[in-house]
Amino acid sequence: MAYNNITVTPLAPAIGAEIMGVDLRRELTESVFEEITEAWLKHLVLFFDDQPLNITQHKDLARRFGDLHVHPTAPGVNNDPEVLAVHADSTSKFHPGDSWHSDVTCDPEPPMGSILHLFELPPLGGDTLFVNMYSVFESFSEEFKAFLCRLSATHTSETYSGRYEDTPRRDGVFPSASHPVVRTHPVTGRKALFVNEGFTEKIDDLEAIESGEILRLLFSRIREPRFQCRYTWKPHSVAMWDNRCTQHHALWDYFPRTRSGYRVTIKGDKPF
Ligand code: SIN
Repeated sequence: MAYNNITVTPLAPAIGAEIMGVDLRRELTESVFEEITEAWLKHLVLFFDDQPLNITQHKDLARRFGDLHVHPTAPGVNNDPEVLAVHADSTSKFHPGDSWHSDVTCDPEPPMGSILHLFELPPLGGDTLFVNMYSVFESFSEEFKAFLCRLSATHTSETYSGRYEDTPRRDGVFPSASHPVVRTHPVTGRKALFVNEGFTEKIDDLEAIESGEILRLLFSRIREPRFQCRYTWKPHSVAMWDNRCTQHHALWDYFPRTRSGYRVTIKGDKPF
């Protein structure tokens, strides 16, 4: 597709593109929306510089792509459950997103996409890594891919316990869910590996030792740089990623400095 409104510059061969020529604070016209959607499906994570969104603009942007997701445990910003604070400073005991994951896969219907706006950054560090989960899946042999396609795995919210002890839970409990190990993207029809270090506890129906060894193999493939890009944020950069075919890892290499922003997350459907 030719882009008539926006400029799309790939960041790495595997994944990621920087987008110019759009002001995300304004309502997207139909043709800009279509071009962003097209670029998103192709590059899986999009980055936009210099987008000082307020919360209303941020939510309006996300709503263009779907209904908004409510995090199962984290407190919302200003009591708004649809806005998640992504923040770490000298007092932080944990860093949101500091391991390879796709967002909230412990939910029975994990979010399809996430839009993160960072407004305060450390002088150095705080990059985010993204990985193309179609390519990770496609890198395995045909026999192994066929085996993976027969499996499901249980994802739990263990990762949240101890983090948000005083926060009311969305559903009263921490969620957990079983999902296919390989999911089909509902728009592109492509298959992507769908297990992650943050949430996937065990491959269903395998012995614990078998599940552990296979997950170790899958997680080590996800960590291979050839499937990744690395993004260095500036104040008021915005990233939007497709949780159905990517994972990300926010690096906490800047302690005790501050990094801060808001994430608005878009509802997804049941993986198949
Ligand atoms: C997240 O997992 O949403 C956080 C990503 C980041 O802070 O870069």
